[in-house]
Amino acid sequence: MHAVMNTLTIARPDDWHLHLRDGAAMRDVLPHTAARFARAIVMPNLKPPVTTTELALAYRDRILAVLARGTRFEPLMTLYLTDNTRPEEIARAKLSGAIHAVKYYPAGATTNAGSGVTAIENCFPVLAAMEKAGMPLLVHGEVTDPDVDVFDRERVFIERTLAPLIERFQALKVVMEHITTSEAAAFVTGAPPRIAATLTPQHLLLNRNALFAGGVRPHHFCLPVLKREVHRRALVAAATSGNPKFFLGTDSAPHARHTKENDCGCAGMYTAHAGIELYAEVFAAAAALDRLEGFASQYGADFYGLPRNTEKITLLREPWQVPASVPFGADVLVPMRAGAAIEWRIAAA
Ligand code: DOR
Ligand code: ZN
Repeated sequence: MHAVMNTLTIARPDDWHLHLRDGAAMRDVLPHTAARFARAIVMPNLKPPVTTTELALAYRDRILAVLARGTRFEPLMTLYLTDNTRPEEIARAKLSGAIHAVKYYPAGATTNAGSGVTAIENCFPVLAAMEKAGMPLLVHGEVTDPDVDVFDRERVFIERTLAPLIERFQALKVVMEHITTSEAAAFVTGAPPRIAATLTPQHLLLNRNALFAGGVRPHHFCLPVLKREVHRRALVAAATSGNPKFFLGTDSAPHARHTKENDCGCAGMYTAHAGIELYAEVFAAAAALDRLEGFASQYGADFYGLPRNTEKITLLREPWQVPASVPFGADVLVPMRAGAAIEWRIAAA
């Protein structure tokens, strides 16, 4: 017999995959992340994309400028890989000390991936430079081939692109971002320690039925798309396994409500408002709360070669109601679980 745990104190977590956007929209979403996480890997898919060290440092300055005074939060910047990225850019990025990874979007795979990589062979010299610099490659692992079923795009990407890539670059560190399938979990588990994966709250909590519950549900649409229950269970097993290859990355991806409730709705779920609380639900349901700290606060830092956070946060099992919408620049957005309850909250510091 074991008692139900109703409070949990862990080192302050980090979010290893986050979309912050820019301008007034960023001003509204950043406080949600900064209230929970010490650091976040900030995605570079702005319009135009963050392709150079100079652009990344300017973006970092804009993030720091809107942080409330006294907030301790460190944005960890990334570069957006294109067919034209120069190997010399990697040395510049490394030297900056502020850029921690390079993001690989297959061209057209998702939101603002239009400038992404058309053929990874074009980037081999850059990947060699990254390998040498110890700079991780963060992968959006989906093929864009329209002949491949949308639910199979991650599995096929592993076979066609990822497996050959990590074979060719034997020292390249790779994070397979937001994995959604049992095949991805198995692949990462069986790969060398330099290969890791992030897991989102939505792929741990929902299966693809959530896209069609009583009607089409645009706020549950993200990429890679939600998968079958058998995959969700495999992801929960990976996240709660204590294997340091698997760590937290919310992929919180804010979009204005009208752009999702639309004839051609945008991909992305907003989870930053409950970016640690939703994972607490997952780990509690799996009777694995004792493993949340490794997943949320330790393994990612270890992988990136950064110090673990020493400050603590306390989570309480105390339900709260998520608002129907939250401000998003001139618009509003609909957060995950809008109008319903989340079981955990963070205790006031
Ligand atoms: O659903 C998604 N939204 N997946 C991505 O890969 C990008 C993200 C976004 O930027 O909105
Ligand atoms: Zn993302």
